[in-house]
Amino acid sequence: MIQPGNYVRDLLRRAPGDTVSAKGWVKTRRDGKSVHFIQLNDGSSPTDLQVVLDAGVVPPAVVASITTGACISVEGELVASLGKGQAVELKAKTLVVHGAADPEEYPLQKKKHNLETLRPLGHLRARTNTFSAVFRVRNALCRAIHQFFQERGFLYVHAPVISASDAEGAGSMFQVTALDLDALTKQAKPVDFEQDFFGKRTYLTVSGQLEAEIFAHAFANVYTFGPTFRAENSNTPRHLAEFYMIEPEMAFCDLEDNQDLAEAFLKSQVEQVLRDCRPDLEFLSKWYDPDLFKNLETLINSSFERISYTEAVALLQKAGRNWEFPVDWGTDLQSEHERYLTEELFRKPVIVTGYPKEIKAFYMRSNDDGKTVAAMDVLVPRIGEIIGGSQREERYDVLLDKIRSHAAHGMKEEAYWWYLDLRRFGGVEHAGFGMGFERMMMYLTGMKNIRDVIPFPRTPGNAEF
Ligand code: 4AD
Ligand code: MG
Repeated sequence: MIQPGNYVRDLLRRAPGDTVSAKGWVKTRRDGKSVHFIQLNDGSSPTDLQVVLDAGVVPPAVVASITTGACISVEGELVASLGKGQAVELKAKTLVVHGAADPEEYPLQKKKHNLETLRPLGHLRARTNTFSAVFRVRNALCRAIHQFFQERGFLYVHAPVISASDAEGAGSMFQVTALDLDALTKQAKPVDFEQDFFGKRTYLTVSGQLEAEIFAHAFANVYTFGPTFRAENSNTPRHLAEFYMIEPEMAFCDLEDNQDLAEAFLKSQVEQVLRDCRPDLEFLSKWYDPDLFKNLETLINSSFERISYTEAVALLQKAGRNWEFPVDWGTDLQSEHERYLTEELFRKPVIVTGYPKEIKAFYMRSNDDGKTVAAMDVLVPRIGEIIGGSQREERYDVLLDKIRSHAAHGMKEEAYWWYLDLRRFGGVEHAGFGMGFERMMMYLTGMKNIRDVIPFPRTPGNAEF
């Protein structure tokens, strides 16, 4: 394996004269008169390591197999490079080809591929410059998120992936079963889920929030970071059926504190990734979004606009636009409305609070007006909603009423006994939010399709790899 200090990223920083070994995959090979130049990368760096292979070091048949996509290892000496773009190059003393990649067959020949044609090549696209930059940013973003919460004393909690409750009460869940569906379809009887693995109907979680609330009632400040699943048939550039969500949950916290934390969280992620991944972001900006750095700086430097849903509706009605979805108090804001507010009107992130209770989840705290709830959505340019959250209903009777009033939509009071118990035993004002990790990735990388910021996208009709 590659030892620390021996990644291409590290070798590029070492001094001439060192004897080193490099391992990785060939980007290209160019042949000079008596020398071959090989661009080598192991995914650690946006810059390749140039390997200089003199004629005769390995037999011509081996040289011929050093083609784009081949896996090789090289030993030799780092020497000062005369070429531009790198300080050192590796003069090969020995070279081994571990796996060739037939140029007639290997799909990723040296040229710019469009992102759509790379999607069916999910097993190879991580080797391209674009995707290695995206996935390095993804890695750095994970670290930035943990860093943000850990340095504030938040406890990281793993919410279950299999769940018996519908956290959003929205009913778009994938069912999990160990029953033999083929055998069942041959029976005329209704399915008895008591015979299923868990003795009841279970689903892939849509959100870890309710479990995070349990932990917030023991550790005060907690966060989850894990996969969540939505069986909505939304074939858009911003929706996945399987995506990662970060869900902080805080006791002794109201909607103001919640907004402050969300704003600080977004700013910190951008700052950390700008610090850790500048060369990758420069690459992505060059090829995909010339405004990337401007947008990232705006997020860091602006104080987020905070408006109520009612104000947002008034602004949208005043906009004099021909909306595809007409805006009326009581209807949910659509992507076109969110983007108008954040991209055109305020030109910075906007937090909208106080949505009508009918369009938000059952657990959000009722406001005194009887019509709205203490919800908040954070909207950012190019993406729209990046965070959704709320102050939670901590009053037992009010919560029970809400759950009962959702019975018609299939909510079962019995299933929420433990959630109600939290309000009976040591309950407290609390709040939290969920950030779509891939939405943040789109914001940070300038990628326009959410399928291009997750290693293996799951969307309607697509679960390859
Ligand atoms: O607004 P949502 O549905 O909120 C919740 O799930 C709450 N339980 C969060 C909480 O308060 N703890 O989802 C939160 C965020 C959205 O703002 C969006 O960024 C992202 O998750 N999201 C999706 N990302 C990709 N694909 C989808 N299908 C998404 N659905 C939501
Ligand atoms: Mg939402």
